[in-house]
Amino acid sequence: MQIHPLDVILHKRDGLPLSTAEIEALVRAIVDKTITDAQIAAFLMAVFFRGLNPEELAALTKAMRFSGETFDATPLHTFTVDKHSTGGVGDKTSLLIAPILAAAGLASPTPAGVPGICVPMISGRSLGHTGGTLDKLETIPGFDTQLSMPRFEEVLHQCGAALIGQTPRLVPADRILYGMRDHTGTVESPFLICASIMSKKLAESLNGLVLDVKVGSGAFMPTYEKSKFLAELMVSTGELAGTRTAALLTTMDEPLGRFSGNWIEVWECVDIMKGIRSPMSADLIELSNVLSGWMLFFAGKSPSPEAGAKLADEILLSGAAYKSWLQIVAAHKGDTSIFENPAAFHKPTATRVLKASCAGYLSGMDCTEVGWAVQRLGAGRTKPGDPVSAHAGIESHAKIGTKIEEGQPIFTLYSEDAALLDEPYRMLAATIEISDTKPTPQPLVREIITRDTLAL
Ligand code: URA
Repeated sequence: MQIHPLDVILHKRDGLPLSTAEIEALVRAIVDKTITDAQIAAFLMAVFFRGLNPEELAALTKAMRFSGETFDATPLHTFTVDKHSTGGVGDKTSLLIAPILAAAGLASPTPAGVPGICVPMISGRSLGHTGGTLDKLETIPGFDTQLSMPRFEEVLHQCGAALIGQTPRLVPADRILYGMRDHTGTVESPFLICASIMSKKLAESLNGLVLDVKVGSGAFMPTYEKSKFLAELMVSTGELAGTRTAALLTTMDEPLGRFSGNWIEVWECVDIMKGIRSPMSADLIELSNVLSGWMLFFAGKSPSPEAGAKLADEILLSGAAYKSWLQIVAAHKGDTSIFENPAAFHKPTATRVLKASCAGYLSGMDCTEVGWAVQRLGAGRTKPGDPVSAHAGIESHAKIGTKIEEGQPIFTLYSEDAALLDEPYRMLAATIEISDTKPTPQPLVREIITRDTLAL
């Protein structure tokens, strides 16, 4: 029986459950361009108001996942695992997690000689107030983020991790729907967000997936409850698709780590992998280890996520992650010589220090505003396709809860254009709060959602 897109829209509008066949037909029509933009918009708005039941969400995610080419890891006969973050400020955990997991995989090859764990990371670019892994990697001279699928597989085989951008052929349904959501007021639907994120992650043919869902003033979702609801949707969608999935609700009330920008974030990770640990990087190291711990646990390399986190730290401290990092970067044609002195490669032409206006405790900030300040220094973009500055960004000198003296540096601002310093300086000065009483910062990991907590 032929399925008409208009009937699918009417069913959703009227609150009737959609069949898998209806959802598949609609997604096919979207990709084949046999329905109009107006019909796509109507469908999105109907989903926005009516939501999706678990079967509908699983069917939409699957139809989107298989709407174009997918990465097929089966020939590698290994455990594939990735992590996804809903986006943060200074969130560079991918740059540590990929080499940590790669090192663990190389240390435990399969009988066929393939790394025992592979991380096929398909990453995004900075948009809005959050940074993007690809922009950071592309500050490394020569680093190629546009590998062909055969080369992607080769790098995975050789190094245990590869990091590329989304190709035009991967999950084309999401490209169309995401673009349309942006100007139809439907971006915030947790069901559409879940299908968008999970279709792209599951197209990597993953055995395991760890989701870092941010909560707090720098999070993409506006409330803790909404972040948790999204986390639950994503875990159940992943598990229903046969991928072991955990979601960690993590605090994003201030930039993660020491630096927020592009090259400076790579520099921070290189320092950590070389064993140089700034106190400002403690939260970043902790979160990277916790997320890696879950990935190692899913891959069967540790008896628990906690043991996995300890193993991750050992891999960092032993230098094995740094060795893997150098291999991964070289396989992507990146120039590894700049890691010998990463500070020397940081060449902002304009710098300004924001100092505390009074003594007290650093008690809070609007982390989204901090992210926008980083973007306006030149590190982010206002629209897709805009260039980003390699050297713009901020350095954090204090974390929430730190006792500070009047005149003590809180942030150093970096830019490649002196004219771009004033506005971010004003934004940062206006958002930091200093109080007389010591605040209690939120724990880094607030809650963990798994199939067990969901009783799946
Ligand atoms: N990231 C995505 O990939 N999709 C969304 O809908 C939101 C964030």
